[in-house]
Amino acid sequence: MSDKLVVVGNPSLVGHLPEVVIPPDVEAMTPDELEAGIKRLKTERNAVILAHYYQESEIQDLADFVGDSLQLSQAAAKTKADVIVFCGVHFMAETAKILNPDKIVVIPDLKAGCSLADGCPAPVFEKWLEQYPGHTVVTYINCSAGVKALSDVICTSSNAVKIVKALEGQKIVFAPDRYLGAFVAKQANRPDMVKWEGSCIVHETFSEKRLIELMVKNPDAEVIAHPECHEGILRHAAHVASTSGLIDYAKTSPKQTFIVATEAGILHKMQQAAPGKTLIPAPPEDEICACNLCPHMRRNTLEKLYLCMRDLTPQIEVPEAIRVKALKPIERMLEMSV
Ligand code: 13P
Ligand code: SF4
Repeated sequence: MSDKLVVVGNPSLVGHLPEVVIPPDVEAMTPDELEAGIKRLKTERNAVILAHYYQESEIQDLADFVGDSLQLSQAAAKTKADVIVFCGVHFMAETAKILNPDKIVVIPDLKAGCSLADGCPAPVFEKWLEQYPGHTVVTYINCSAGVKALSDVICTSSNAVKIVKALEGQKIVFAPDRYLGAFVAKQANRPDMVKWEGSCIVHETFSEKRLIELMVKNPDAEVIAHPECHEGILRHAAHVASTSGLIDYAKTSPKQTFIVATEAGILHKMQQAAPGKTLIPAPPEDEICACNLCPHMRRNTLEKLYLCMRDLTPQIEVPEAIRVKALKPIERMLEMSV
């Protein structure tokens, strides 16, 4: 990969991006050597490693901070490190760069996108918004900087209901996740909320039929779900929350067994938080696929993490004019989340 390669906006819309090539010297390293190298580079570069709960467990274990999208934005907003190493997907690293224009932000694999962000290109979104003058644009953080720049306030799965409730009396457009949008509209009693019809490829694949079969086999289990799931899953859930909210629930609930309807990477920290409890991943439609693993999140590997810290590439860049516009709704979200 070229040292100069940067992507502005949405990886899927930038055309063909090369795969990260792991050089033979890195390929020859053992996991222990990679781990030691990452720890050494962290000190040498005064870097902080931020990781999402959907990353591979060995990446989560090396991170300085593991969290949900809101917690990761909050951690990025207050870090004193010179380099932010973002183990997550592109929009998360891009948010960190918007908050820290003077810091270097690297991501192990620039091609780690997100189906929600990919399904809402900024120029199309801008045109679509013309139909809704006078509406407050509430946008889920899973979107590009260009879409954030067109928004009034950003939200995540952990604060979306709170933010929409705070906008009482205002007409609202919600994008880009239709399932989160439907959940929020119900919780905040805003059936009039206009929704962009995007979805997450991972949460969309959970099967209601197979979930019911699993519930019958495990009658004492409680279903817990991420609000990106469709209604067929959410209607069975005892608790619906962000990734960190689901972990907290599994830890504090008196129940012993949970069927967990979100990306399976969450089980690593959830099991640590709730030792001794039984965690069963919710089943996708197709019995043999690994559809409950996000293919974008899984692009990041230990080798790519080591490489991006060694070479300080690929870096996230955001054009200043877009960054300044995108910063405002992110800051508004951070203010509304305290
Ligand atoms: P959280 O903010 O709940 O961690 O969700 C992020 C995400 O991408 C879920 O698919
Ligand atoms: Fe995007 Fe879905 Fe992956 Fe989350 S799990 S990053 S919403 S594709």
